[in-house]
Amino acid sequence: SSIEGLNFNLTEEHLAVKEAAREFAQTELLPTAIERDTHSKFPKEEVKKMGELGFLGMMVSPEYGGGGMDTVSYVLAMEEISKVDASASVVMSVNNSLVCWGLETFGTEEQKQKYLTRLASGEIIGSFCLSEPEAGSDATSQRTTAFDKGDHYLLNGTKNWITNGGTSSVSLVVAQTNVELKHKGINCLIVEKGWDGFVVGKKEDKMGIRSSDTHSLMFTDVKVPKENRIGEDGFGFKFAMTTLNGGRIGIAAQALGIAAGAYELALKYSKERKAFGKSISEHQAIQFKLAEMATKIEAARLLVYKAARLKDEHKDFVQAAAMAKLFASEVAMWATTEAVQIHGGYGYVKEYHVERLMRDAKITQIYEGTSEIQKLVIAREMLK
Ligand code: CAA
Ligand code: FAD
Repeated sequence: SSIEGLNFNLTEEHLAVKEAAREFAQTELLPTAIERDTHSKFPKEEVKKMGELGFLGMMVSPEYGGGGMDTVSYVLAMEEISKVDASASVVMSVNNSLVCWGLETFGTEEQKQKYLTRLASGEIIGSFCLSEPEAGSDATSQRTTAFDKGDHYLLNGTKNWITNGGTSSVSLVVAQTNVELKHKGINCLIVEKGWDGFVVGKKEDKMGIRSSDTHSLMFTDVKVPKENRIGEDGFGFKFAMTTLNGGRIGIAAQALGIAAGAYELALKYSKERKAFGKSISEHQAIQFKLAEMATKIEAARLLVYKAARLKDEHKDFVQAAAMAKLFASEVAMWATTEAVQIHGGYGYVKEYHVERLMRDAKITQIYEGTSEIQKLVIAREMLK
């Protein structure tokens, strides 16, 4: 993909969205972020507020109760919220770019009326279920089955690592219908919490994004009506891949936000902390760290905006999204580690936030396709 015709000029509306997200994050998320992280407490009230502010269905058309905004607005909001709390922003990312986008783009009118309107307003939240205990990167190796029983599918299997697993009311579940057809025999089904045979497994005790709820989901003979299939028979894998292309822009923006949040904290601290008779920001070694952080973060930001712009302009953004996600997540891990270093011992304790950002950064190199998988996607695009 080229950068031809790209224009990063942000409009007044874009800046207003960014400011609203920043305000929300600083006032509503920051004061409770450490406590929620410590106790793995889901941000229930905060997510409700995010829905009220329109952050859970940002790109959904107003016709279905969404904000009707572009992807650039979405990444600006993701960055600001992720600067403070990546647990809250992953809830937002999954609901916006995987669940709502997937339903709006490929769902039937009935499915949109029934599910999308409530998901876009945040009345309910959704989850996206592709990964399994034995199918992560190797996503075509689906073991979950959805056999055709005439008017319904019979769903059996286990999904692993499902973000919003405990709190979502609606799950988009990928499953194998026709084993012989391999990835062309996979479907994605809309499954409601509470249907017979649907069990939520235990909550994972994680290194980072601890206040997001990650669960395995178990399905035993769950009857899913045919009208809950998304797209044509056999479209499920393509659905998942196409949806993830856009999802990766959201996670890239999350990684960018984590890195930028750590940088903001490190810059502020470096001006306050004195050592050897001056602020540590006056030591060139610290200046060089900050300079390198700012440069890499800016580069990540350009890749994220580029991917978002390409998507908004309906151009091919697959490689751009993978590059943005790969680069921004590597920058996030590196920059948060540097931020802890700049804080010295204070960086190693919870009070200063940067150790949490460092733990949170790690997941951005893993989910929605590991860094290795992003390289594979980038290489395939360049070689095709
Ligand atoms: N966009 C559109 N279609 C794609 C695609 C893409 N980026 N990548 C693959 N496909 C299509 C291919 O075109 C092919 O379809 P056709 O045969 O019809 O052309 C089909 O998918 C299979 O592709 P491959 O033969 O390339 O399959 P593969 O097994 O060699 O590799 C892969 C595919 C790229 C590695 C893929 O399995 C993958 O992306 N793995 C990572 C899975 C992942 O990202 N999981 C995230 C789970 S959600 C999540 O994590 C949410 C969260 O944390 C918050
Ligand atoms: P594996 O695929 O087993 O990978 C192990 C290692 O091998 C990795 O380093 C990987 O990069 C490498 N590797 C694998 N294949 C190759 C290859 N071909 N070339 C080079 N290296 C390779 N999934 C969902 O469906 N929905 C969710 O909401 C969701 N949320 C998540 C939340 C959390 C907190 C976590 C931890 C995971 C979540 N996931 C979710 C799952 C996530 O997408 C997978 O963990 C990820 O895709 C990697 O799969 P895996 O864990 O099975 O690792």
